[in-house]
Amino acid sequence: MGTQGTQSHLQARPDEDVLAAFEAAKGFMPADEGLALYAAAVGAAALGLPLLEVGTYCGRSTVLLAAAARDAGTVAVTVDHHRGSEEQQPGWEYHDPETVDPETGRMDTLPAFRRTLFAAGLEEHVVAVVGRSPRVAALWGRPLGLVFVDGGHTDEHANADYEGWTPHLAPGGLLVIHDVFPDPADGGRAPYRIYRRALDSGGFTEISATRSLRVLRRATAEERTATGTERAAAGAQGTAAGTEGTATGAQEAATGTEGTAAGTERTAAGAQGAAAGAGRHG
Ligand SMILES: C[S@@+](CC[C@H](N)C(=O)[O-])C[C@H]1O[C@@H](n2cnc3c(N)ncnc32)[C@H](O)[C@@H]1O
Repeated sequence: MGTQGTQSHLQARPDEDVLAAFEAAKGFMPADEGLALYAAAVGAAALGLPLLEVGTYCGRSTVLLAAAARDAGTVAVTVDHHRGSEEQQPGWEYHDPETVDPETGRMDTLPAFRRTLFAAGLEEHVVAVVGRSPRVAALWGRPLGLVFVDGGHTDEHANADYEGWTPHLAPGGLLVIHDVFPDPADGGRAPYRIYRRALDSGGFTEISATRSLRVLRRATAEERTATGTERAAAGAQGTAAGTEGTATGAQEAATGTEGTAAGTERTAAGAQGAAAGAGRHG
């Protein structure tokens, strides 16, 4: 798979209806980052594979993925437990009292999400999965054209999203990460750390940066072979990885050489995650 699909649409703009639905939805994404997300989604959708989002909230960013998926004849999949992140809970900076279900007393953003999609006329182009991201990722078995990480912003959640979903990203597919802040003065750094993990793995190249929204393109098997660096690193780290990575590699090998490469990287991600975990608790 070449670069054409994922790099030639970086200027794409949503039509006015889609933009209006995005702007009307509750959420945290400013317009310029939304436009960059949409452009990435259009490029990735050309691969003909599903576009995956972690962190639906009330559907603001989902609208953009759904429009790109619709126009390419594919689908957007969005994952959220709909109970809100840490910083969205009562008493925290990003809490919105309107998101609390009066019956349970807990946050529930699913109704607002459904209203957003309905108003946008995009229900048919989205599969919404209600659940915890790592649990859903563990069940997932298909290649993805785009992975957009905008879920929990702790290291635990960001690393789990990275480790759970990037192995499913097709070669030439796009990894988009929101809230990447190189300077700690600008915000929490867990998204920045997984952005660094991706770049440092040698398996990704950055293709756009719009404020805190970063778009990385996954290398193809040919590019990996040409550089050789990622495979060498993955081989060395893979020896130390446990059975989970091996099982995933075997499962993805069934999809061909691309799957094998994804499995290898998963192994490396597992090893790195274990090292990071040891650092946190050590
Ligand atoms: C920053 S908001 C997403 C914003 C949305 N993408 C937008 O543009 O409006 C983060 C969302 O991630 C969800 N979330 C946090 N941790 C999660 C996890 N482990 N699994 C699934 N969803 C999670 C929260 O419930 C919350 O709705």
